[in-house]
Amino acid sequence: MFSEEENVHLLSRSNRGVSHWNRLKKSTMIIRAVVVFSILSALATGTWLLQRYLIKGDKLDLTPLDGFCAHINSIQPDEYIGRHKKLAQVLEFENADALIMEGGASMIYYTNIEWELTERAFLVVLQLDNDEPTGIRTTIISPAFEATRALDSLKKANLPKEISPNIVEWLEFESPYDALKKVFGSNSNRIIVEEDARLFIYQGIANGLQESDVYMAPESIRMLRMVKSEAELEIMRCANTVTELAIRTVRPHIKVGMTEFDIQNTMEKALHRAGLTNTWVLALVDENAALPHGSSSEKKVTKHSTVLIDTGGELLGYQSDTTRTFFMGKRGHNETIEDAWYLVRRAQENVLNQTGAGSTCAQVDLTARHIIDKGGYGKYFTHRLGHGIGLRMHDEPYMHQGNTEQLLQPGMTFSVEPGIYVTNEFGIRLEDIVVVREDGKLELLTRGLAQNPWTL
Ligand SMILES: *[C@@H]1O[C@H](CO)[C@@H](O)[C@H](O)[C@H]1NC(C)=O
Ligand SMILES: *[C@@H]1O[C@H](CO)[C@@H](O)[C@H](O)[C@H]1NC(C)=O
Repeated sequence: MFSEEENVHLLSRSNRGVSHWNRLKKSTMIIRAVVVFSILSALATGTWLLQRYLIKGDKLDLTPLDGFCAHINSIQPDEYIGRHKKLAQVLEFENADALIMEGGASMIYYTNIEWELTERAFLVVLQLDNDEPTGIRTTIISPAFEATRALDSLKKANLPKEISPNIVEWLEFESPYDALKKVFGSNSNRIIVEEDARLFIYQGIANGLQESDVYMAPESIRMLRMVKSEAELEIMRCANTVTELAIRTVRPHIKVGMTEFDIQNTMEKALHRAGLTNTWVLALVDENAALPHGSSSEKKVTKHSTVLIDTGGELLGYQSDTTRTFFMGKRGHNETIEDAWYLVRRAQENVLNQTGAGSTCAQVDLTARHIIDKGGYGKYFTHRLGHGIGLRMHDEPYMHQGNTEQLLQPGMTFSVEPGIYVTNEFGIRLEDIVVVREDGKLELLTRGLAQNPWTL
């Protein structure tokens, strides 16, 4: 075999023209190989960089939310004893004999029984009785064919031995209110019906117990659920903190081109990872955010969008509710909208600084409204400042100008959610949940107010 050099030499000897041609061809091939190699390595490096910095950075990492509230205890059995004892005191104070309720927040509050409403009456009767260790005798009025399920719910409720409800059954062709008569006898009683009871239930009770005075729960009764215990606050603090954290975790992954529905899906994933159930998300882009409860037309995120996320879920029965509004892109958003954001933010801060135990709910609303009025947007703050929250997402007390009688008390929890809504232009809302502390000051149940409209 000839070496390449010899080969070239041989060729060059035989034909100079061909040899020159071949040399040219060889160098072209080397250049080609170098070019191809460079392109390939550039591609490989590019892909690697893309993967490392863009795609990986882009991947929704929800691990900060994992097990965030796993250390929080549910309401312990003994807490129900305290609830019954307090109720006994209030019933005595009201000179009333009993409180009757349907399935819902109050039934969960006093008995830890969850019961869906149907056309058949299923009632819990909490009756003053000094022979009971808590001062309250508990009776469940159940459709007879549902008694097994009622018993099952009762077992699951895991109540302490001091609370041991009786179940009184009524057959399909009987009246549940006749069953109620068996509980009260023929005495005349003063009977309070919980405020959420449906009209036919209320009327049925009033007709069935004609000798008795039947009326809707006064504030003293409703106050029992409004004022939260330390155990309830622990749950609510975690639920609301993790909801705000979920928004901040999702925030960098909201990209141009996403629809409101895409944002909603991503948020739902985050809330589930955070361990919340019964989750809900309102995601509104640009002028859609001017409608506080949303619009039917779907908007997409653009480079300069304003995005509003109002969201929450349930942890161990208690609700969270948080709103953040943020801007896409870097600094340099529309100045009008940016100023409105800071105005809403100042309104929240003013409430935290200026109100607390002893303020009326009307004053709390006005303290926020004052800032928005001064900023020239008074008529665009179209709803009340906030609502109570607990076992229900919207509950008493309500923060509006008409609520001039109700005073804030330690243990009350409510939302502070001022907003500015300019129809067809933009909408801004920021919402955090607060509790009135023992020292009278308001304390956030989230990490803190949003720091700026970009990173939150
Ligand atoms: C609220 O109080 C803080 C701390 O004292 C203060 O920095 C802030 O300016 C106050 N905010 C308003 C709106 O008055
Ligand atoms: C900023 O937004 C306001 C309110 O939607 C609008 O009226 C105004 O034209 C915008 N300004 C700019 C520079 O786009």
